[in-house]
Amino acid sequence: MRHLISPMDLSVQETDQLLALADRIIADPKAYSHKCDGKKLATLFFEPSTRTRLSFEAAMLELGGQVLGFSSADSSSAAKGETVSDTARVVSCYADIIAMRHPKEGAATVAAAKATVPVINAGDGGHHHPTQTLTDLLTIHRLKGSFDGLTVGLCGDLKFGRTVHSLIKAMCRYQNVRFLLVSPPELRVPDYIRDDLVSGGFAFTEVERLEDAISDMDILYMTRVQRERFFNEEDYIRLRDSYILDSEKMKLAKPDMIVLHPLPRVNEIAAEVDDDPRAKYFEQALYGKYVRMALILKLLEVE
Ligand code: NCD
Repeated sequence: MRHLISPMDLSVQETDQLLALADRIIADPKAYSHKCDGKKLATLFFEPSTRTRLSFEAAMLELGGQVLGFSSADSSSAAKGETVSDTARVVSCYADIIAMRHPKEGAATVAAAKATVPVINAGDGGHHHPTQTLTDLLTIHRLKGSFDGLTVGLCGDLKFGRTVHSLIKAMCRYQNVRFLLVSPPELRVPDYIRDDLVSGGFAFTEVERLEDAISDMDILYMTRVQRERFFNEEDYIRLRDSYILDSEKMKLAKPDMIVLHPLPRVNEIAAEVDDDPRAKYFEQALYGKYVRMALILKLLEVE
């Protein structure tokens, strides 16, 4: 039985196969509409979500399966003090596969240790978010054709942004990828990510001003400042508007750069950028459903 806790749980070859399966689903969704007949997905969300939870549910429904679950810790027995491992063990009796989001780093690992069905990490605190990374990879692959040789800019909250950590880990495994890490000093990538970049000999540069780096980027991955992970509100207020991507800044970018964002956005991308053909974040959200369909098929060993 396989789980997906970190993007590294899938080899490069498996990741590429999963993206290829997502491409086949996009080309002919009807061919997959009964693949999960009689199967159930449980979505256990102890933290807010729109895209991740609903795209998981839509994915299972489009595969012919059914869904059950909860969308907040308050409405589950976590509110009564139940542990994550007990919840995972019990839900394994009711569902064939679990997607779980939790505010604590490592929660998905704990759930997987006790679950008797595959567990997918749908975000564990500020740590990892592997299915967002699969979404990002599918988007990049479809829009850029390949991962090799890309210059990837990541901008915003690189410290607490789990999507950033997972995407860097995954992209490091392709050839000649270069990272431009744009953040205020307080929100730089955590040491465990930087150490990996240094020890692996990967090309990366940390800068503070988006204007100084945007013209080199093939991809600009914007992120929200993660208010819920800050220790105090003052720091959040001081840092929240560090970057606002607008039409003026887009003028400095390459004509074929693409702008991605895991969403939700708050202020970091002005609405005027939505009309720029390089803005791909809504398309990215759609790909999230297809890649999750592919992942469910793989972990249920249907495909
Ligand atoms: C991200 C998350 O939850 O980490 N959202 C998502 O899953 N698309 C990003 C965020 O909340 O800022």
